[in-house]
This record gives sequence, C-alpha cells and structure tokens, in this order.
Amino acid sequence: LPDLPRRRFLISTGALLGLGALGGLTTPGRAIAGETPHWRPAVRFAPERNWINDPNGLVFFDGEYHLFCQHNPSGDQWGNMSWLHAVSTDLVRWQELPVALEPDELGAIFSGSAVVDHHDTSGFFGGKPGLVALYTSAGDSQQQSLAHSSDRGRTWTKYDGNPVIPNPGIADFRDPKVFWHEPTGRWVLLLAAGDRIQIYGSPNLRDWEQLSEFGAERGAHGGVWECPDLFELPVDGDPARTRWVMIVSINPGGPAGGSATQYFIGDFDGTTFTAEGPADEVRWADRGADFYAPQSFSDVPDGRRLWLGWTSNWDYAAAIPTSPWRGMMSTPRELGLTDAAGGVQLVQRPVAELSDVRANRRAWGGVLTDGSDVEFRGSAVDVVATFRLGTAPVVGVDVFAGPGGRTRVGYDVAAGELFVDRTDSGEAQVSQQFPARHGTPLAVDGGVLALRVVADRSCVEVFAQDGRAVLTDLVFPDSGSDRIAPFAAGGRAEAELEVFDLTP
Ligand code: FRU
Repeated sequence: LPDLPRRRFLISTGALLGLGALGGLTTPGRAIAGETPHWRPAVRFAPERNWINDPNGLVFFDGEYHLFCQHNPSGDQWGNMSWLHAVSTDLVRWQELPVALEPDELGAIFSGSAVVDHHDTSGFFGGKPGLVALYTSAGDSQQQSLAHSSDRGRTWTKYDGNPVIPNPGIADFRDPKVFWHEPTGRWVLLLAAGDRIQIYGSPNLRDWEQLSEFGAERGAHGGVWECPDLFELPVDGDPARTRWVMIVSINPGGPAGGSATQYFIGDFDGTTFTAEGPADEVRWADRGADFYAPQSFSDVPDGRRLWLGWTSNWDYAAAIPTSPWRGMMSTPRELGLTDAAGGVQLVQRPVAELSDVRANRRAWGGVLTDGSDVEFRGSAVDVVATFRLGTAPVVGVDVFAGPGGRTRVGYDVAAGELFVDRTDSGEAQVSQQFPARHGTPLAVDGGVLALRVVADRSCVEVFAQDGRAVLTDLVFPDSGSDRIAPFAAGGRAEAELEVFDLTP
C-alpha cells in the first residue's frame, strides 16, 4: 500500500508541521490575500470558517437532516479532527451548530456514521429513540468508538466502554458505517481495513462480531480504501428487482488523479457481500476530480436513498484558495439503479428539493452553429439542456465564462465522452494537475443528449442522461465571469435550454 494517507495522519497527531511536510500530496500552499465570498456556494454546505473534509453521521431524525463532517475547528488545514454539526429541514439550507465531537484521550475523531436507535437496542435512551454515532478514534492506532445523544444531536456522550472495536494490528482501520438489517434483525457495520472492507454485526451497537470481508481481487487497489457504505436499491424503480451497492472510496488511484469513489453491484445476504460482473471491472461513482468520501443518509422517511460527498481531492485539498473556509459538500443527490449495457449501474440526480430554490427562469431553443452567441448570466445556476446532435463534433455549455476564462461542459460525439474542461477556468494554479479536462464514457442513444449542470460559484456538477454519467469539478472563476453559453463547435446542433438562478 502507498503510505501517503498514513503519513497524513501521523502529521496530524504530531505538532504543527507546515504544509510542505505533506510532501507529494500537494504543491506548496499559495498565499491567501483576503476572503473569497464570491466562491462561497449558494446551495451546498460550506462551513463558516476553517477546514472540512468527509461528510459523517448523515441521518434524518425528528424532522431534521443532520450533517456532521470532518473539521478542524481551529485552522484551515487538516488537523484536530472533530465533527462539525449542521442541520437542515430541506437539504438545501443548512444551519451550522456548535462542534459535536472533539478529540479525547483515544485520539482525534475521524469519519463515521450515525443511526436512529428506534427501539433503544443500545440501552442508552431509557426505552426511547435516540441517536448513536460510530466513529474512528485516531490515536496511536485507529479504533472504533461510540457516542450517543438524547437531544437531537445537540450534545453527545462518549461511551465509557470505548473503543467498541479495538485495533487488530491494521494501520488503516477506520470509517465505520452502520445500518439496521431487517431480515437478520441486527446492526451491520462496515469498516475500511487497508484495501479491504470488513463487515461486522451487533445486536446493540456496542458488541461487534466480524462476519466477513470483501475486496480481495475486486475493483481498484491503487490506494487505501476508505469510507465504505452499503445499501439496497430497486433497479429502475422495480421493488421486485433489487441489488446491493457497495461504496468504497480510494486514495490515491482515482481516474482523474488522487482520490475518488468506486462502487460494486451485488448481493448482501446479511453476512457477506458478493459482487457481480468481472472481477477486474472498476466502476466510478463520479469521474470528476472532486467528489470524495460520499455517505448515504440513514432513516430518510420516504425511502429515498440520498447521499452527498466532499467536493475536493486529497491531491490538492490543502491548497484550495477559498477563505475563511476550506472545503464544501456536493449537492445532496438521490441514488437509483438502472439497466445499462455493461450491467446494472448507479444513477445520481440532484435531490428534488433543489428545484424548490430555483428562480428567474430563462429559456431558449433553436439551432446552434459555430457563430452562435446565445448567452445567459448567473454564478449560481441550474441549467437544463437538451441537444439533438447534428454535424457538430462537440456540443455543450460554457459556464463561468468571461474575460478571465471559462469552464467548458461538453460532449465529444466521436469519442463518446462527456467532459468538464477547467484548464482555463480562472484561478487554476491550485496544483500542477488542477488545470485539466476530466471525462467519462457516455453513450447517447437516439442522438439526444440531456444535460443538467449545477454551477454554483466554485463548483460544477454535471448530470447527463438523467444521472447515468456524473462529473464534479471545483473551479475558481474570476468574480466577473458569470456568462453561460450553449455551443456547437465546428458544426450544427439543435438545442433547448432552461436556466434558473439558485436562490435559497
Ligand atoms: C477520507 C479520510 C478517512 C478518515 C478521514 C480523516 O478522506 O482519510 O479515511 O477517517 O479522512 O479526516
């Protein structure tokens, strides 16, 4: 295994070493002259100040969505890992609350999850429902710990029997994700252990027994496995046809460089996860550079499976030029499965709630050619575009365009590739590899390309063919670069476009 992540953790527990000590992880940090309000996202969570990474403890309880995440309360670099806490009733507007979990004698508080213990199986709540969080205590070694809350996550008590899963001698041993498995009537916990996923079971969230392991000779192994998740979904909405989806983040080894998230489709019998498809097949949830450590919400009332990820990449997260915060989350997405040529695949769409904060609808339809100059303006927008492919070899939409550059969202017809090109997107010298084009293969049946582009101040999320292909990239445009322009380069294409401002 490469030892980059391990070095990162050693640095954290050690004294304040400068960014340079991160070695190959990043280029040296650039000086931050002032605050950057023009890059603060409109519709996704970013902290008031300081550093965040992975989402943690995503759970719906008593009318609120809870978002916890990896946070340094006292600095804008990774360190002092704690759980930040924010709540929302609509997944779009978030209220940041006081820090929920802080480092203790067992170490820093690394990633983990939270569940509603409806029937008080843990015995912490006097027979009532309460919230239980499982997280990694990162001290001399990584172990799993428990905390509980009887006041809707506002205050937490750490269990005095911690750790609940001690370290068995594996250096990278972290990120517990818990869910209730109804058929076996027990809690199931997934853990990243080196480049494997371990699966545990428990009657009470306190006593855990290992059931199985997954991952040998499956998927990508170019880095450490992190932040697993496992859930069941219907294929094309058919409740009689379900599959289990195993989520595994990996760093490094992602398709756009650095960190990324792979997934496996298969079956879970309550003990073991078995993946289908060829053993050497690798499926990526998002082929952009900036979607990492996604986690799905527990207990969403209407049965939707929702998740969100950290919009960044370990390759350059430390050098992101925003201030006074560093790091943000993706828009929450609804997950589904659909039949595709290579087998059942994951689909992701922005949650329906995003449409509730659309305003100022503008629309256009017609034929685009090389000389077209159709344009709209906006720096926090939801763009819905349909292209009827014609002679143009490349079609798409430029966003954040202006004198200082543009971000190109396009479809390369001959290559069959959806892409985001941020080479000339504004402040692109974040790291050597930042100015780049990221793409994903995409078949366009019947010559009709359906694009949804959520461009939000310093991030572009592209969902194509109803969520079958997804790309998420950070960009740092000049504050004046707010032009949105559909294009057909080198030929013609018919297009229809709707542009909405996102105004929470
Ligand atoms: C993923 C990760 C987790 C770990 C956390 C530490 O980005 O490396 O594996 O728990 O970040 O902040």
